[in-house]
Amino acid sequence: MKTLVTYMTQTGNTQKIAEAIYGELEGEKEIKPIGEVTDLEGYDLAFIGFPVLQFDVPPKVKSFLSEKTSGKNVAIFMTHAVPEGFEAIHSWTGSASQAAEGANILGTFDCQGELAQPVIDMLLKADDPQMKAFGEMGPSTKGQPDASRVQKAKEFAKEIQAKL
Ligand SMILES: Cc1cc2nc3c(=O)[nH]c(=O)nc-3n(C[C@H](O)[C@H](O)[C@H](O)COP(=O)(O)O)c2cc1C
Repeated sequence: MKTLVTYMTQTGNTQKIAEAIYGELEGEKEIKPIGEVTDLEGYDLAFIGFPVLQFDVPPKVKSFLSEKTSGKNVAIFMTHAVPEGFEAIHSWTGSASQAAEGANILGTFDCQGELAQPVIDMLLKADDPQMKAFGEMGPSTKGQPDASRVQKAKEFAKEIQAKL
């Protein structure tokens, strides 16, 4: 069984979750940024992760999901600044699942990730009120994903692998 963990990250949060997942996996495994993955040939399972950006899956990840995952076993993970349980998360998970509609999606995981200070500063200056509201929420995200979230990601990795 060969498993790939691949991810996009800008400030390290999604990478932290990717590494936690990777650390729990049994068998042959690889971890790579998504830009270094040409296709999923030779992998029995791929964990694919990204940060939510502008209320959606980042375009390059969306393309990857729609173009490279057909017929493959995949698990999706994401980090976002809003707290877990926030309603819009369903639409982000839905967007990723829709992009990967030809895949066998074994599960999805999401958790809060810290909004980096330069991003907070930028958002606070934005004209869009929704963006500004994100900036105001920024300080409450400090330190995420914390140890308990990392632990949940590890459990997710085990659950997914146990499905195969
Ligand atoms: C330009 C930009 C847009 C973002 N948009 C959202 C968003 O729509 N919803 C959200 O919950 N978080 C949003 N975030 C926060 C990131 O998803 C969050 O900080 C994530 O953990 C970053 O992951 P990374 O460190 O792997 O890049 C945004 C961040 C940036 C920089």
